[in-house]
Amino acid sequence: MPDMLVKLYKLPDDRPLFSALESEGITIHRALAPDTLRVLDFVRDNFSEHWVSECMVALSSSPSRCFVAVKDRTVVGFACYDATSRGFFGPTGVSKDLRGKGIGRALLNATLGQMRNDGYGYAIIGSTEVCGFYEKCVGATVIPDSSPGVYTDMI
Ligand SMILES: CC(C)(COP(=O)(O)OP(=O)(O)OC[C@H]1O[C@@H](n2cnc3c(N)ncnc32)[C@H](O)[C@@H]1OP(=O)(O)O)[C@@H](O)C(=O)NCCC(=O)NCCS
Repeated sequence: MPDMLVKLYKLPDDRPLFSALESEGITIHRALAPDTLRVLDFVRDNFSEHWVSECMVALSSSPSRCFVAVKDRTVVGFACYDATSRGFFGPTGVSKDLRGKGIGRALLNATLGQMRNDGYGYAIIGSTEVCGFYEKCVGATVIPDSSPGVYTDMI
């Protein structure tokens, strides 16, 4: 699974998407420290132990480097940055029953926007099998010969 490169100086304006999600009761915001265990439970229940570990790193700073999608006071999606490597986006995921509504795109844009505000010029999408999603949402391009990349020594 390759890494991908995103130009943070060319991010799309997704304000209309955020408004549309809000009208469905879905909000996107940076994860707060008191919600750390809730976010980790969501990632463990829906994804993998490796992603829980990466999420722990992203949640360990204040403010955190993890964004969440919330509906009815429940976590329905998450996105991290600066977890396994600095300048990397991911992992990210959305509840299966809520996919296809723009939540993944909104989490991606909120997180990449924060990375740009933190001073990054480019972001790297780490080891992804959904290249089409990143190409479509933010014009990401595949980095040649990038697999397994920074994950080479992962157990
Ligand atoms: C990838 C994922 C986060 C997308 O979340 P989502 O909320 O379903 O995505 P969105 O609804 O925001 O989709 C935005 C656009 O990307 C497209 N898209 C979504 N998943 C795609 C995929 N796998 N390949 C290509 N395009 C995709 C959608 O069709 C949509 O296009 P449109 O606006 O023209 O309709 C979600 O499918 C997921 O959690 N997958 C499992 C975990 C995963 O693979 N995470 C990525 C790890 S790097």
